[in-house]
Amino acid sequence: MASRPRWVIASLLACTMSGWVSSEGVGAKERQPESNVPLSTILEFETTARLLAVLLDSGRNVINEHQVLFDEQDQTGKNFTTDLFERQLLEVFRSRSGIDLQEFEAARIPAEAKKLLKELVVASKHVVAEARAEVNRPGGGHKELIPAIFGARVATRFTERTHVRLKQTALAPRNPLNAPDAIERMALEAFADPSYPREKVISEVTAKSKSLSLMFPLYTTRKCLECHGDPKGEVDRTGYAREGLRLGQNAGAISVVIPIRP
Ligand code: HEC
Repeated sequence: MASRPRWVIASLLACTMSGWVSSEGVGAKERQPESNVPLSTILEFETTARLLAVLLDSGRNVINEHQVLFDEQDQTGKNFTTDLFERQLLEVFRSRSGIDLQEFEAARIPAEAKKLLKELVVASKHVVAEARAEVNRPGGGHKELIPAIFGARVATRFTERTHVRLKQTALAPRNPLNAPDAIERMALEAFADPSYPREKVISEVTAKSKSLSLMFPLYTTRKCLECHGDPKGEVDRTGYAREGLRLGQNAGAISVVIPIRP
């Protein structure tokens, strides 16, 4: 059954993550994929997918920290410039991945990853620039850019320009467009188990579709809880019912799908 999903643990990739524990997650088995693609190639694609997820999540976190600025009509545009966003984005990414995107020609990461990471920085900046223009328009537009909307806009733009699909998803999504498919659901269920190792990604190679899918778990910070925390069921400032999540709890995932060329 060539099309049956095969799970490969990205143990190599998880080693830069703090709190990495070497134990098996649900559905995550260490196996050779049933394709003729060499394991080294698969690991390269896995590295690329994980770095893209880290970069998208870094942007989400920078936006998350700047909610207040985006709320305040008068100062917003002046304070949160696209350059400031980029500096913070690169800094958060560097602290999480150990990779400096300003000097990464020399970094030991796949050439494809370099190209895609650059493209994702450009898409992220573009979305912030657009949001600033929206916020500054007199009397119109949204006054706030939230992480999920930022993430969705960046993902759309990035996917249009590359062959790589990015998506934010959760088991009980607010936006039906973010609903998980069967494979994403399996990973989300594994992440939802409190004993699941923190930040351990789950990836899978499907021989039939010739692609690598990677699920990168997201966790709540204090700011996320303003909308996703307690009191559960009470409407937040975006008009959705709060989920009652706790600090540090898994809040969903970023899903990455990269086509594999042997
Ligand atoms: C200002 C309120 C607000 C904050 C703060 C916020 N979110 Fe959300 N979140 C939302 C809204 C609204 C949506 C649905 C967006 C849409 O319509 O696509 C959403 C969607 C999501 C989704 C996609 C799945 C879904 O439910 O549609 C994830 C995952 C998520 N949020 C996680 C987080 C995390 C993690 C943080 C903190 C880093 C965070 N959110 C901060 C309001 C918020």
